[in-house]
Amino acid sequence: RSFTVAVVGATGAVGETMLNILAERAFPVGKLIALASARSAGGTVEFAGEKIDVQDLATFDPAGVDIALFSAGGSVSKEYAPKFAAAGAVVIDNSSAFRYDDDVPLVVSEVNPEQAQNRPRGIIANPNCSTMQMLVALGPIHREYGIERINVATYQSVSGGGRSALEELGRQTGALLNFQDPDPQRFPVQIAFNLIPHIDDFLDNGFTKEEMKLVWETRKILGDDSIQVNPTAVRVPVFYGHSEAVAIETRKKITPEQARALLESSPGVEVVDERVPGGYPTPVTHASGNDAVYVGRIREDFSHPRGLNLWIVSDNIRKGAALNAVQLAELVAKNG
Ligand code: A2P
Repeated sequence: RSFTVAVVGATGAVGETMLNILAERAFPVGKLIALASARSAGGTVEFAGEKIDVQDLATFDPAGVDIALFSAGGSVSKEYAPKFAAAGAVVIDNSSAFRYDDDVPLVVSEVNPEQAQNRPRGIIANPNCSTMQMLVALGPIHREYGIERINVATYQSVSGGGRSALEELGRQTGALLNFQDPDPQRFPVQIAFNLIPHIDDFLDNGFTKEEMKLVWETRKILGDDSIQVNPTAVRVPVFYGHSEAVAIETRKKITPEQARALLESSPGVEVVDERVPGGYPTPVTHASGNDAVYVGRIREDFSHPRGLNLWIVSDNIRKGAALNAVQLAELVAKNG
């Protein structure tokens, strides 16, 4: 059978990639509906070589939609996702609006796919991009060796902030090379030729919400509230691809050789770990435009008896958002 699929936020950075990945993977789309704000209604987006009219979400009737992929921000999801679900659609939501609700599964397709089948509200949440790539790599290690603690510093590209953030890095880079004022608008300070240790809002505990997503989502996805996570999230002047310096402490000792062997056989992971110049993944050389989660710089943490260090890189718009959403749609489709 084929499905009526709606993409909400179809004109955005993630929405556009959702359309591309649905076509690339030949998802059984009977009818594709592209939705965005009134600003874009009347324009078109491309799907499988065809132009599709963009419709205004606010006036769209969701009756007849089988699967809706939402990536238009938390407030749009909060308002419209329940309406689509009530009309019979399965909603796959890329925002953080429902991720921490007990009756909404939070699913990385390689790590806890079985949970996509239990969705009492008709909503499945897509994890945050940084948590997503980290757990594609750490999920298999946790299963065999038991992770007690994760120290992680992220190096997150601007595309995670959507089209306006991509444009700001481009604009500021051009301005600065021409001795002009960078004029920060989308980010709190200059992002070109700089980096910013602040993503999403500050919380009372001194961490940012982006950092706490790594704590809350890791525990929910791995189903283990005892895992300790100590995150620092940093925005860097990279267009596509997030990187993470990760240090784990396991219950059972895991050597770098064991980690390499385990990760080489893990779904969605590619090990790139030669100890030579360029023998490691970077956003530009490996991640950008590709599907895998790349892992390199695997080495023993000599400051801890059961510590291991890894460098994890992936395209945040693909595996971190659009690809996982489509993989969740595939899980939904497989089960009728
Ligand atoms: P629009 O292009 O009409 O503003 P990005 O993350 O790249 O900024 O993209 C955000 C996506 O969410 C865009 O497709 C945008 O549509 C859509 N969007 C933002 N606000 C709304 C809204 N109130 N209703 C529907 N779609 C929205």
